[in-house]
Amino acid sequence: MFALAETLEEERLTHAVNTAIEHKARLGQYFTPYPIARFMASLFPVTDQKIRLLDPGAGIGALSCTFLERIRQENWKAPDISVSAYDIDELVLQTLEKNVAYACAYFDKANYEIISENFLTKTAFEYTWNINKTYTHVIMNPPYKKIATHSTERHATRIFGLETVNLYTAFIGAAITITENLGYIVAIIPRSFCNGVYYKPFREFILKHCAIKHIHLFKSRSKAFKDEAVLQENIIIMLQKNVQQEKVSVSYCTDESFADFKVFDADFSQILNPFDKEKYLHIPEEKKIHTETFSSYSTLKDLHINVSTGPVVDFRKRDILLQDYQDGAYPLIYPLHLRHFRLEWPKQSKKPNAILYSEDVAKLLFPKGFYVAVKRFSTKEEPKRIIASLITPQDFITDGIAFENHLNIFHINKASLPEDISYGLICWLNSTYIDRNFRLFSGHTQVNATDLRNIPYPNLQKLKELGKRLQQSNQWNQPLFDSRVESIALCN
Ligand SMILES: C[S@@+](CC[C@H](N)C(=O)[O-])C[C@H]1O[C@@H](n2cnc3c(N)ncnc32)[C@H](O)[C@@H]1O
Repeated sequence: MFALAETLEEERLTHAVNTAIEHKARLGQYFTPYPIARFMASLFPVTDQKIRLLDPGAGIGALSCTFLERIRQENWKAPDISVSAYDIDELVLQTLEKNVAYACAYFDKANYEIISENFLTKTAFEYTWNINKTYTHVIMNPPYKKIATHSTERHATRIFGLETVNLYTAFIGAAITITENLGYIVAIIPRSFCNGVYYKPFREFILKHCAIKHIHLFKSRSKAFKDEAVLQENIIIMLQKNVQQEKVSVSYCTDESFADFKVFDADFSQILNPFDKEKYLHIPEEKKIHTETFSSYSTLKDLHINVSTGPVVDFRKRDILLQDYQDGAYPLIYPLHLRHFRLEWPKQSKKPNAILYSEDVAKLLFPKGFYVAVKRFSTKEEPKRIIASLITPQDFITDGIAFENHLNIFHINKASLPEDISYGLICWLNSTYIDRNFRLFSGHTQVNATDLRNIPYPNLQKLKELGKRLQQSNQWNQPLFDSRVESIALCN
């Protein structure tokens, strides 16, 4: 019988009582209670790939052993498992080895190493010489302790490209560096890094290399580590290396009983305001989601702008579709005709370029003017969900144009938008801000006209202002859209 919980809890409490406070303070040492370790281990997604687990500052091995316990209990098909557990405290090494060996013994192919060296300096040395191991999973409760500017730890951390002031952020920086792409890091750490100028390089480091997948907050300051009188507010964070940031699971509970546990998905813009240069990380409360960010914005209805799906369903009009434009026909616009936020027509491809005139077709045409077209389908690989392109009167070679059904068209009562509004929409819809907000309520890659009606828009005056500013630039790109949107959002 695998009596891990009892063993670990007994050893943790014995250590808490029998170890001198100075010793624990010097090493930033307090061990994770089993229920918290269990919750942390539960965050990793199930995998049938190899597992290379790192536990830096492992103490008695509560975290790695609890994760191994979960793998065994859930019968994961991981072909082989290896564990690297670091600790510099000689007093814990024997217990650590006993526990990790015990947890590994249940697997056919599991090996471990107990490393009694300084995690930071050893990793920095190996990384410098390119001989470091890499990991698919990291689970950690790193030591918390300030590090002086000229300390060896501070020098070591600089090797990873991180300037930081505490051991816990240094440990995470080192762990991120030696985590494989798509690998996961689950850590319980103080909340202090979420704001403050000293932790800004650390926040930037995390955001550069990882996506935040989960944040858990203990509502009580004192209860997560109550046996150790730790008065920091602690969070558990799960990061994934080198993946795009999507929604974040946010959970709360008061203490290690997890009795009042609550979880919900938050849009990343609720955690990091895209305009915040200081990169403060917020942990949103459930009720505040949606309303706060959007309250000062308009709806499309307020702006008297319409958005509709392109009315030409091509398989119903097969007999009048033309590969090449000819007199008596009208241009037919497909998503492939939209590139770099503009119209590129005609195009040689399998898709037609034109549609022959008929009375039926006449009803589907949009008169010469300014329109904004948004693709209805993006692929998962495309970095943005909403891609908006401008159509101007100069694009018209006839008095009308037809849009195919895979597009959404912004117009006013089937006629042109005002010029500055059309440019304003291009800037707004293509902004990272809107992309993030769109992901808040849409988990799929499809962009429907209804979705476009539901996203927030600036008021008419700001939209015009955005448009005027965009018209002054020829080179359209993401930073330009974002900086324009940022400038209007900041001036009220
Ligand atoms: C906060 S305790 C957590 C222990 C364990 N991971 C747990 O969750 O119960 C941090 C551990 O890191 C160890 N430690 C401190 N500095 C270290 C260093 N530079 N390298 C390796 N281990 C270190 C301490 O001895 C301590 O056991």
